[in-house]
Amino acid sequence: MNNGSPTILDLPPGPRQPRYAQALQWVVRPQQFLVRQRERFGDVFTVQVIDDHPLVVLGDPEDIRTIFTGSAEAMHAGEANTLLEPVLGSRSILLLDEAEHLRQRRLLLGPFHGERMLRYDAIMAEAAERELATWPEGETIEILPRMQAITLEVIMRAVFGIEAGLELERLRVLLRRMLHETTNIRQMALSLMLGPESERMRGRLREVLDPVDDELYRVIAEHRDAPDLEQREDILSMLLLARDEDGEPMTDEELRDELMTLLLAGHETTASSLSWAFEQLTHQPQTLERLTEELRGGGAEPYAEAVIQETMRLRPVLPIVVRLLKEPITVGQGRFRLPAGTRVAPAILLVHLRDDIYPDPYEFRPERFIETPPGTYTWIPFGGGMRRCVGSAFAQFEMRAVMRAVLTNFDLEAAAGPERISRRSLTLVPGRGGRVRVVRSVKAARSEAAVDGALAL
Ligand code: HEM
Repeated sequence: MNNGSPTILDLPPGPRQPRYAQALQWVVRPQQFLVRQRERFGDVFTVQVIDDHPLVVLGDPEDIRTIFTGSAEAMHAGEANTLLEPVLGSRSILLLDEAEHLRQRRLLLGPFHGERMLRYDAIMAEAAERELATWPEGETIEILPRMQAITLEVIMRAVFGIEAGLELERLRVLLRRMLHETTNIRQMALSLMLGPESERMRGRLREVLDPVDDELYRVIAEHRDAPDLEQREDILSMLLLARDEDGEPMTDEELRDELMTLLLAGHETTASSLSWAFEQLTHQPQTLERLTEELRGGGAEPYAEAVIQETMRLRPVLPIVVRLLKEPITVGQGRFRLPAGTRVAPAILLVHLRDDIYPDPYEFRPERFIETPPGTYTWIPFGGGMRRCVGSAFAQFEMRAVMRAVLTNFDLEAAAGPERISRRSLTLVPGRGGRVRVVRSVKAARSEAAVDGALAL
């Protein structure tokens, strides 16, 4: 036993390479690494990729069901996420388990309920239009930073409830600096080398976090005192009004930690998914054309929904989720008994590439989701069970709003061949940032046509 965890010898077989060699492949080529191990070992195998704890990877939907339907006492996710604590804070929903987790989750779920998302439509469309106004016609752009600018603005306005203006600009600068420091892969490597608890790393982190924290506490105080709090529609206002089962409101520390969590869980993930959507679409002109036609038509958008589902299937931005077992379980159709203390990883990426569920799994084919809706344990880009992503409706709603804004304003085209999967800190992104050519502005083309029409008269 090692720190109370089972050793690699107690667990299902896996690659024998040294830990650093596995970690390197996991960072550089996550999909190839996982797929290769499945070819060798089947749907259950053990790797060593993150720290000194072995990780049992699960690629069979039946085993994933076992994890997602397991009790909160039997599977801890918070305890498996402690690396995030210096940034998120100890009250973050991502770091809590059992009753404490359930309390925060209940408080958060209300404001993120699917039907409420409609009220963010205008903010999302405005944030997209503001970014689109800077797109250079006829040139090639990297779509990822453009999407990050949009998703950051949306979180600041819809979640933090900050109106456009000076305050928003100041927070934007502070958040960008903090996000750069905390999600930059070089910083992560440095933190792994020096240890997140080293004096130097802590100093660097405080330098970028302190001004953000000051600002967040100021925003919380300002909202708390606002006479129109009950009429406000942002998520922070709703969290301030929310009460737990004992009638207690959230404390300022809890609110700060959840705002930081929503920012980090919701900003880069949504931007990365959007980048993949455009990367995939521009390499498949017929699909792009069908989607564009639907979005420009202004009616129902079933194809857009299928495009989002297919993007998230083929290019999930988080390849795995992790749970720490507090009780033993059996996986692999009865072949393996995993002891308490094991870290298990339902592999989103492997389930989504199964050819028994998704014929031609490497093909981008949104039609498959029009024929068959996504399954609870077979389409899992947002994880599942009691820890399923709180922001899944928000993210999909935002993706649709941004795709609509982009494709009703511009015609896009691929600027290069398909991009490989690359890692940007936590999420998987297009290797070259999603390079697309902005062929033509639809609005400009329309007004030219109108002038031509007028001249012809
Ligand atoms: C495309 C975008 C997104 C993806 C792919 C994504 C994916 C995920 C995944 C895989 C989990 C872990 C689930 C598990 O352990 O089973 C998660 C959790 C979470 N996500 Fe998202 N997410 C996205 C967007 C968002 C947004 C926009 C927000 C909020 C603004 C958000 C807030 C959260 C929170 C609070 C949790 C923790 C839930 C809990 O522990 O109970 N996410 N997300």
